[in-house]
Amino acid sequence: MVNIVIKTVGLTVYYGGRKVLEDVNVDIFENSISAVIGPSGTGKSSFLRSLNRLNDLIPGAKVVGEVYYRGKNIYDEGVNVYLIRTRIGMVFQRPTIFPMSIYENVAFGLRINNVKDEDVIYKRVRNALVMAALWDEVKDRLEESAYNLSTGQQQRLCLARTLAIEPDVLLLDEPTSYLDPKSTKKIEDVLLKLKNSYTIIIVTHSLSQARRISDYVLVFMPDDDNVGKLIEYGPSPQVLNSPVDPKTREYVEGLIG
Ligand SMILES: Nc1ncnc2c1ncn2[C@@H]1O[C@H](COP(=O)(O)OP(=O)(O)O)[C@@H](O)[C@H]1O
Ligand SMILES: [Mg+2]
Repeated sequence: MVNIVIKTVGLTVYYGGRKVLEDVNVDIFENSISAVIGPSGTGKSSFLRSLNRLNDLIPGAKVVGEVYYRGKNIYDEGVNVYLIRTRIGMVFQRPTIFPMSIYENVAFGLRINNVKDEDVIYKRVRNALVMAALWDEVKDRLEESAYNLSTGQQQRLCLARTLAIEPDVLLLDEPTSYLDPKSTKKIEDVLLKLKNSYTIIIVTHSLSQARRISDYVLVFMPDDDNVGKLIEYGPSPQVLNSPVDPKTREYVEGLIG
């Protein structure tokens, strides 16, 4: 039995009254990697942000429909949005480094979540850095500024910061688009390990990345009114090798997008 971790029903996103993503109905399964692919502007980032209510922070953004996280609609009244965001963590395209030490960048999420015990913080920071495959590279320089790290290391640091708060779901928005192939491979290897204990959704512009790491693929495409739609969804080999929708076929053959 495979558990559904996230389920969207009629998920639709507007900015200032303009519809950019319409009627997404999808199930995301536990301990899997789902890749979201499609041309720019089709609402991939908006989709991701709607899964942990980050769109709430964007003025003029409106989300319609339902997003169930482990059976509970996160848009219901009275839902603790902060708790949702600790269960469903996010990593962005550009590393979001704070002007602090390497250690404090990872501890940050714990401190704002009111974890006080320094031993607990140390253990979780260390554990998160190990999981993000960064520990060996930084263990002797934890007090150094995080700005001294390479972009690839900074991105793993951001992943570690998210992991330190022990989430259940990881949302990653094109996390390797500014990284070289070697750093990209490190992140991909980490994600393949993490999926044993996390549910992962990753937006990617790279079909080869989707091929390498994903179990499921979601294809977003614009309709005639330039509104993003989920046009195809299924196991990666099926979607990438024998897509049902002709637009998906064109996209994976590199003709559009
Ligand atoms: N904060 C925002 N305010 C207004 N429009 C936005 C905002 N964010 C995204 N959009 C618009 O919504 C559409 C979808 O954007 P986005 O979700 O970023 O797509 P993708 O990630 O697939 O490139 C685009 O037309 C974009 O310009
Ligand atoms: Mg985007």
